[in-house]
Amino acid sequence: MSCNNLRLGVNIDHVATVRNARGGAYPDPLRAAKLAEEAGADGITAHLREDRRHISDADIDGLMDVLTVPLNFEMAATEEMQKIALRHKPHAVCIVPEKREERTTEGGLEVAREENRLAHYIAPLRDAGCRVSIFIAADRAQIEAAHRIGAEVIELHTGAYCDAHAEGRLDERDRELESLREMSALARSLGLEVHAGHGLTYDTVKPIAAFPEVMELNIGHFLIGEAIFRGMTPAIEEMRRLMDEARA
Ligand code: PXP
Repeated sequence: MSCNNLRLGVNIDHVATVRNARGGAYPDPLRAAKLAEEAGADGITAHLREDRRHISDADIDGLMDVLTVPLNFEMAATEEMQKIALRHKPHAVCIVPEKREERTTEGGLEVAREENRLAHYIAPLRDAGCRVSIFIAADRAQIEAAHRIGAEVIELHTGAYCDAHAEGRLDERDRELESLREMSALARSLGLEVHAGHGLTYDTVKPIAAFPEVMELNIGHFLIGEAIFRGMTPAIEEMRRLMDEARA
């Protein structure tokens, strides 16, 4: 655990992706989660997708049993997922949009379009003691709607900023960064806790980590990829170091 107030949540979905490529039990996402904990992760994130393409129901059972840091349970706003979340009562539930054909969570949730349904959907989760987070784009209307439905946390989607950086569209990257900055401040002014994530790497993490309103970053694909080259513990430690440096 770090001494500053920016938490690192490590997303272990892609350990399960590698496991599932062979249909067996190896590599075990629970082992990765425990290693991440030891390496300084402040929380573990896992996304139980409707098609179970990576994390399985048994993985969630196991994570709830073995973790000593909080589990951030990512899920779509479906009846099935609500039942699973209410059975486990994880520390946090992050509601994400989900499309079967997508490779990853491509955009933020359209909260404004479904305000009424989502308000009713998250109420029992909140009553059960879960911190409800809504994964959204850096967009004023979505943030205000997330506030109105009673979410305690928003997670800002950093994918467009990271993609623009990776593809060398630097003006666009800077515009995305600016809107993430403004919308973090807006969300905080409404009393929402601000998290961010998607696509973050060693090259893109620092400007986001430097926003004083951001309390948590959730990072997965890059860290699991980097673990192949330098090992899980050094991969996470380096991310933590960059986050601390940006925050200092
Ligand atoms: N936050 C949310 C809400 C996500 O859906 C994901 C991807 O599962 C992440 C963070 C992590 O994204 P990445 O794997 O690109 O680091």
